[in-house]
Amino acid sequence: MLALAAVRLGLPMRDKIIKVFIMTSETAGTTKNLSASQVDVKRNVAEQSLITIYIMGKAYEVPDDATIMGAIEYAGHQIIRGAGCREGYCGACATIYRLPGDYKIQTGLACMTLVEEGMSLAQIPYVPAEKAIYDIEKLKPNVSAIQEMYPTVFRCVACNTCTKSCPQGLQVMDYIQAAKRGDIAAVMDLSFDCVVCGLCMLRCPAEITQPLVGILAKRLYGRYLRQDSPELAVRVKAVEDGVYNAEYAELMSMSREDLSDRYYARDSE
Ligand code: SF4
Ligand code: SF4
Ligand code: FES
Repeated sequence: MLALAAVRLGLPMRDKIIKVFIMTSETAGTTKNLSASQVDVKRNVAEQSLITIYIMGKAYEVPDDATIMGAIEYAGHQIIRGAGCREGYCGACATIYRLPGDYKIQTGLACMTLVEEGMSLAQIPYVPAEKAIYDIEKLKPNVSAIQEMYPTVFRCVACNTCTKSCPQGLQVMDYIQAAKRGDIAAVMDLSFDCVVCGLCMLRCPAEITQPLVGILAKRLYGRYLRQDSPELAVRVKAVEDGVYNAEYAELMSMSREDLSDRYYARDSE
């Protein structure tokens, strides 16, 4: 609930994201609305050493502990596409980069990946993919649904490039192999934390649209295979009965700074 309130008030949700916020404010020449802890971070930022990175081929000096997203904004760019949650959840900030002396193209989420000296990067705002249109009531939770909706799955050459590309650390190749077997539960499970950044399908030599296969499996699982959850029913009833209303109202009435302090002082979520 605290996290939800924080999001509603537009608060960043991790310390390093605060640094991004501070850097943006600093760029704008203001410390308005900063808490004491944020001012400390601002002071630290001012003392940071800078490194050189290359954004779309142009050199910039940025703080050495910035995320790629923070560095792009520190460099003076306004990100109007390729950013959403800033917390590693929405998948909007897919980025490719190379490091000096390394021939490999690396992949990452700009909001979660720290810059490195000499990094050369570009953001990928969108990976085109054809989404299958289906009526879930007319599909069966087995391999026939995969064959019909995403036949490209069977082109997989088991190169594992998708797994190596995944910033979520998912075993992407394994869930594509599970899709080939029609093991819908395994696809759902292995792809559960997919943020649909598209980096796997960008790199796949067989041009498979992995995240869309995962979404199909989740829908099939939810429609046909899931078990009833007594715990969920209890929690939904508590919400309906207003058990959390007072706490939620309290959080929503707090100032941005107080809510920020409460959020960062929490033990865990
Ligand atoms: S499975 Fe693909 S789309 Fe999903 S998070 Fe991993 S790389 Fe991104
Ligand atoms: S990148 Fe494509 S071809 Fe290679 S293992 Fe992954 S799904 Fe298969
Ligand atoms: S902005 Fe949402 S994952 Fe990076």
